[in-house]
Amino acid sequence: MYPESVIQAFRRKFGEAPAIVVRAPGRINLIGEHTDYNEGFVLPAAIDRAVWFAVSPRNDQGLHFQALDLREEFQGDLKNLEKSSLGWPNYLLGCFSELLRDGHQTGGVNVVFGGDIPSGAGLSSSAAIESGMLFALNELYHLGLSRLSLARLAQRSENNFVGMNCGIMDMFASLMGHEGCALKLDCRSLQHEYIPLHVQDTAILLCDTGVKHQLVDSAYNTRRQECEEGVRLLQLIYPTVHSLRDVDMNMLQSEKNHLRAVVFQRCKYVVEENERVESACKVLKENGLPAIGSLLYASHEGLKNEYQVSCPELDFLVDHTPHSLGFFGARMVGGGFGGCTINLLKKDAVEGFQTYIALKYREKWGHDLRMWEVKITDGVGMMNDE
Ligand code: GLA
Repeated sequence: MYPESVIQAFRRKFGEAPAIVVRAPGRINLIGEHTDYNEGFVLPAAIDRAVWFAVSPRNDQGLHFQALDLREEFQGDLKNLEKSSLGWPNYLLGCFSELLRDGHQTGGVNVVFGGDIPSGAGLSSSAAIESGMLFALNELYHLGLSRLSLARLAQRSENNFVGMNCGIMDMFASLMGHEGCALKLDCRSLQHEYIPLHVQDTAILLCDTGVKHQLVDSAYNTRRQECEEGVRLLQLIYPTVHSLRDVDMNMLQSEKNHLRAVVFQRCKYVVEENERVESACKVLKENGLPAIGSLLYASHEGLKNEYQVSCPELDFLVDHTPHSLGFFGARMVGGGFGGCTINLLKKDAVEGFQTYIALKYREKWGHDLRMWEVKITDGVGMMNDE
């Protein structure tokens, strides 16, 4: 149904074919959660769930958007970029606002977009929207921006216009993903490395709790502040520390009594999670995807007990994974407080696991568990490149 439905809706609305059609994928993250804004390491990948955009330039300054899945429309003007109370248009408006701030001129646009990334599931539908919109504008208006610049702009749009103080992982994964590869990203230098996953008989299965997270105005920003508090205090003793990236467990332990207990916990999680990403990359290269399973469980434990961004439904899903030969590991994915778990298991164990976990979940929470296997795809691109 996508992208055809988006193209058809565009024709219906604007009476002509779109000039370009862009696909912007969501992302998973194998490991490295809440490390991006601490200048640490992450290991995400773009997936075969995406937002599709049909876009044409306009002769005026008008911004005409249609959100196909929501059946809502918005009309604005480039000369008057104000936050919309509708919510969703801000993910697009922020892109224009940040381009303008950097002195890049665009004209108005007609846009229809829609896709199959479930929102609030921790798979970064919002970063896909920003990345796709910016990519389309870069193409239409020949701005000559690199994918890296687009990722930075997308992050700034979300920070400044939407008001969510996220890191760069999501946009980076959506724009820079490579088929069959995880992306090891150093969120300080933005140096990155593609690590082939050779999935073969391993499946990556997502289980969606159906619990919608609310990251804006949520504990996300509090977590950031707690990490910053830790850095400020550690700097007094270790002046070379600029972020938790520069901290190791010895340094942290030595200052334990000077940190609030909760701040110590948050910092400990981040320091250990960065170490886990490094270990995961090493293990992945040497022994393949199944071998990182135990690191996934360890990451979840930290997110649950120390960073405290999990929720009972996520914990239930992780706790009920079978410790059998065909199952390698699981953890929550994304910002937390709801959304999905990522599960690594043998392809031929998927069916049995799905039947078992769906039953258990329904018994406990009284509603169905949505599950889907994902493939690792390329990042944002034009439809004709597919
Ligand atoms: C959200 C944010 C990301 C990252 C994750 C947690 O997805 O958008 O920048 O911080 O949470 O790893």
